[in-house]
Amino acid sequence: MQLDSTPSPLPTLPLRFGTPLTENSIRVMMLGSGELGKEVVIALQRLGVEVIAVDRYPDAPGHQVAHRAHTVDMTDPEALLAVIELEKPHFVVPEIEAIATDALALVEERGAAVVIPTARATQLTMNREGIRRLAAEELGLPTSPYAFADSLAEVQAATDRIGFPCVIKPVMSSSGKGQSTVRSAEDLDAAWDYAMAGGRVNHGRVIVEGFVDFDYEITQLTVRAVGESGQVETSFCEPIGHLQEAGDYIESWQPQQMSAVALASARDVAEKVTTALGGRGIFGVELFVKGDDVFFSEVSPRPHDTGLVTLRTQRLSEFELHARAILGLPVDTTLTVPGASAVIYGGMEAKGIGFDGVAEALSVPETDLRLFGKPESFTRRRMGVAVSTAADVPTARARAREAASKVRPVG
Ligand SMILES: Nc1ncnc2c1ncn2[C@@H]1O[C@H](COP(=O)(O)OP(=O)(O)OP(=O)(O)O)[C@@H](O)[C@H]1O
Ligand SMILES: [Mg+2]
Repeated sequence: MQLDSTPSPLPTLPLRFGTPLTENSIRVMMLGSGELGKEVVIALQRLGVEVIAVDRYPDAPGHQVAHRAHTVDMTDPEALLAVIELEKPHFVVPEIEAIATDALALVEERGAAVVIPTARATQLTMNREGIRRLAAEELGLPTSPYAFADSLAEVQAATDRIGFPCVIKPVMSSSGKGQSTVRSAEDLDAAWDYAMAGGRVNHGRVIVEGFVDFDYEITQLTVRAVGESGQVETSFCEPIGHLQEAGDYIESWQPQQMSAVALASARDVAEKVTTALGGRGIFGVELFVKGDDVFFSEVSPRPHDTGLVTLRTQRLSEFELHARAILGLPVDTTLTVPGASAVIYGGMEAKGIGFDGVAEALSVPETDLRLFGKPESFTRRRMGVAVSTAADVPTARARAREAASKVRPVG
């Protein structure tokens, strides 16, 4: 693995903005160009940035709105370095976990591009072991009890200590893949097999977590951006509540009501973990809340899917906040109105599907839609989202659910 060319000097802050497609352009490469990447691309485009979108399949949502698009296996370090050398971006912005993060470390070390937020953050967060050990053992943050295991026998030994129910997850997986909640020793065999089949790489390692019987869970969006002092400062969005089903979020809302004590703890945890990861950008800190107690679960060093609600609730969406933070610009995390999002699934396995009922969905008051433009639908693939606002969260949630239900995918 190597980078052949001598890198051109990185831009210094404050940036001089240029003109896209000319020699003085500021170039940003998105690694992963799904629905979240697409919104970041649009936010960057609006600031006159040249954007290169990369994904593993052609015509990904972000490909469709970028200046240039590449289809690359981003888990292949050589392929990743080749596209970075070809495009010479100033900033490399990962949108997904499944990336050859060693290649990003090399890019950063050689000064070939700024990796957002840092190569180390992408390395630590792509593996549950890295981020859990950092959070619990180095930073002393409260988490569920946990153990790592490399065999069924080690899983059994771990449950002797942790007890039931517990949650078993491959150390390398996302969107709930390979993850199961186990209520008794008889179910461990099946959970182990399921984890082995569902991990991203055949790592053979799992985390066994004590089940947290939380009252609710939140995403604490946290931004690290250059502040008035000229230094990186931390700002917090209002907490986002969400509902998860089968490893995916189905509804989110903002703000989630929390006690003052729980909110202060949430922000304390978020500040500590994002400071340890460093760099600039937005982070989605996932927390479980029970009474006044807050437990750290995991963190995405990038926009979070539950944060799609911020497209309508904040003065700047999480995507605009990310774009600003990347570029060294000031941020504003003000909530303007309560709101909610509800996911629209494909409901079928087919390419090039249609959507009926869009007008009916948009006739719901204070409601907007995103149809992501994914070329292929799967039954449980997120194809769109409804985002609604209202004077209060319950009304916003009802509106978003109603609007999402009116959109009918057709083959
Ligand atoms: N220890 C736990 N106790 C209780 N619930 C849990 C626990 N771990 C996970 N969950 C539930 O499962 C959901 C998914 O877990 P987690 O975030 O670890 O998986 P993931 O695969 O990283 O998902 P994603 O990539 O969508 O964030 C959580 O949001 C929570 O609802
Ligand atoms: Mg999660």
